[in-house]
Amino acid sequence: MFDESILGLPDDLPEHPDYDASLDHAPVRKQVLSQKQERLALQNALRYFESKHHDVLSKEFLAELRKFGRIYMYRFRPIEQIKARPIHEYPSQSIQAAGIMLMIDNNLDPNVAQFPHELITYGGNGSVFQNWAQYRLVMKYLSEMTDDQTLVVYSGHPLGLFPSHPEAPRVVVTNGMMIPNYSTPIDYERLNAMGVTQYGQMTAGSYMYIGPQGIVHGTTITLMNAARMRFGVASDSDLSGMRFVTSGLGGMSGAQAKAAVISGAACIVAESNPTAAEKRHQQGWVNVLTKDVDEAIDLMIAASEAGQGKSIGYVGNIVDLWERLVEREVFVHLGSDQTSLHNPFQGGYFPAGMSFKESQSMMHERPLEFKKLVQESLRRHVNAVNLLVDRGMFFWDYGNAFLLESGRAGAEIFNDDGTYKYPSYVEDIMGPLCFDRGFGPFRWVCSSGSDSDLQETDKIAENVLVEMLEEIDDEDVRQQIKDNLRWIREADEHDMVVGSKARILYADEQGRSRIASAMNKAIGDGRISAPIILGRDHHDVSGTDSPYRETANINDGSKWTADMSVQNFVGDAIRGATWVSLHNGGGVGWGEVFNGGFGMVIDGSDASQRKLQSMLHWDVTNGVARRAWARNDGAITSIKHAMEINEKLIVTVPNIVKESVLDSLFEGD
Ligand SMILES: NC(=O)c1ccc[n+]([C@@H]2O[C@H](COP(=O)([O-])OP(=O)(O)OC[C@H]3O[C@@H](n4cnc5c(N)ncnc54)[C@H](O)[C@@H]3O)[C@@H](O)[C@H]2O)c1
Repeated sequence: MFDESILGLPDDLPEHPDYDASLDHAPVRKQVLSQKQERLALQNALRYFESKHHDVLSKEFLAELRKFGRIYMYRFRPIEQIKARPIHEYPSQSIQAAGIMLMIDNNLDPNVAQFPHELITYGGNGSVFQNWAQYRLVMKYLSEMTDDQTLVVYSGHPLGLFPSHPEAPRVVVTNGMMIPNYSTPIDYERLNAMGVTQYGQMTAGSYMYIGPQGIVHGTTITLMNAARMRFGVASDSDLSGMRFVTSGLGGMSGAQAKAAVISGAACIVAESNPTAAEKRHQQGWVNVLTKDVDEAIDLMIAASEAGQGKSIGYVGNIVDLWERLVEREVFVHLGSDQTSLHNPFQGGYFPAGMSFKESQSMMHERPLEFKKLVQESLRRHVNAVNLLVDRGMFFWDYGNAFLLESGRAGAEIFNDDGTYKYPSYVEDIMGPLCFDRGFGPFRWVCSSGSDSDLQETDKIAENVLVEMLEEIDDEDVRQQIKDNLRWIREADEHDMVVGSKARILYADEQGRSRIASAMNKAIGDGRISAPIILGRDHHDVSGTDSPYRETANINDGSKWTADMSVQNFVGDAIRGATWVSLHNGGGVGWGEVFNGGFGMVIDGSDASQRKLQSMLHWDVTNGVARRAWARNDGAITSIKHAMEINEKLIVTVPNIVKESVLDSLFEGD
């Protein structure tokens, strides 16, 4: 049962739980605060507690700050394992608030989260909260709030409950919102250490992470379409016989191994951290682990020759793997990278030539030297990739700031005209094929925690996709629906659920709305036993402005603006979302991206039906309209179609100027 003692801060100090060395912990962050700033950090932390505790806690928090670079308030970490519980086990006055509690707990479950005791869900620094006091207070507020209150959360800190109304969101979250001129990585390090801001990644600080399943599907689509585009693989074939090499068996990167097997490819994923590799192996996400680079390569060659889908985890550095592939002249079809380069010098990327443990201590003891080694390693990394690309490999940036950081490191990553040699996977693949057409990562969680509810929702989604396939003529859209139909039919047997009973698929506005409506009806009929929580990754059509990733294929100059994601956040809030979030940073790094998302608890009621239709419509068409205005062909087709279906949607559509008109103006320039 849910342990109610974690609700709020206890009168008496709880016993300090030991530092649990059996779990992975966040790397020690470098010391960035002056003595004056340390004082401020302590004042900030102590304001959560009554003054009678200040003597003890001030010493303890200063010790944490100096040892770990942050004040996590370990003493207040709940002793019982945190995990998503069936929704009715949460003490609450509002079923919507209980749904949010479930999602927060899922993000902090040690089976789901990367560094659970530092409240980090994924991506090295993707935080749900900055410290355990914030967790306890948020859970208390949620357990007490009613449907005419809204909880306001500033970068993990609960500002409080404010009177609102049932149609308003129950929670509004912002993470890392900065005055633009103060949004550098150094500002982040300092202000995060002082306890006034946090990096929410995308679905960490917005309580919508569902484990690596969330990107298995996106990665499967990316692999399939990369192979279709570059190697002419037929639209109904799998990738048997093909080889894929990449890195990262962490939070999201762990999905690559699974996606390769689902697509039928043979792959090696290099992972420096033995604990992360072991975790994915135990979960069955990676088939074999080896520390021997040649063995890893031999296994991949054998699997591809046998036409077998197989994932090999190489426990070692990706640079060593690429260099060995070059030396042995092994042909690789598809290549990428998912080290956490959005956070390159504080644990996101481990340089070649040193052990994982050595890197971990050096990054905070000798940060400047460490940075040099990371950059040297990136230059070697890119050299090896370039050689394999010359021999025919297709390489892409996987949304982890690989191009950006390699460029900053002085690697040979640029063409003569200053553009990058390689595309971001969104620029060539996901952008035109999915986002411009309104397709993105729709997800849902069965709040009962029951397998049968999840299976019922799979069937509902399948039926909707079958119906849509019969109605639609557009070949590009049909291809997407077919890929998703195959995915949802096989999803259960791929056994991808870690934590809450969740599912993901890619759908456009019509698909999302029809699936959600059918699920709402099934809850009303009793075919599904408890509310469903709808959501999505921020990595979507409308949720994210990120010039090297989600909006990489926006070419009218507006990729440097963030109006779309901010409008999306506000628009979702006024159309019935249960909670909304807006973040600075996520995926490619602090200051590099704005993104937002939503969660919506549907309970089978008419009110849920009204809200889901209104909000999901906006949540997709906002981005399609913006992409159309940027003159993206697929988006123009999609937005015109959307206007035919809904006469209240009236969008400004671009007129396309002929090149010849402009050519005549600039002749002779
Ligand atoms: N593919 C996507 O759709 C997608 C979506 C969102 C974000 N990303 C980005 O991908 C990156 C990875 O995300 P994550 O959640 O898996 O992060 P993570 O930190 O959990 O995993 C990255 C892993 O890379 C390993 N690693 C670092 N340097 C290495 C090296 N030189 N050789 C081998 N292994 C090394 C780390 O040990 C770690 O386990 C992030 O930058 C994230 O923002 C990708």
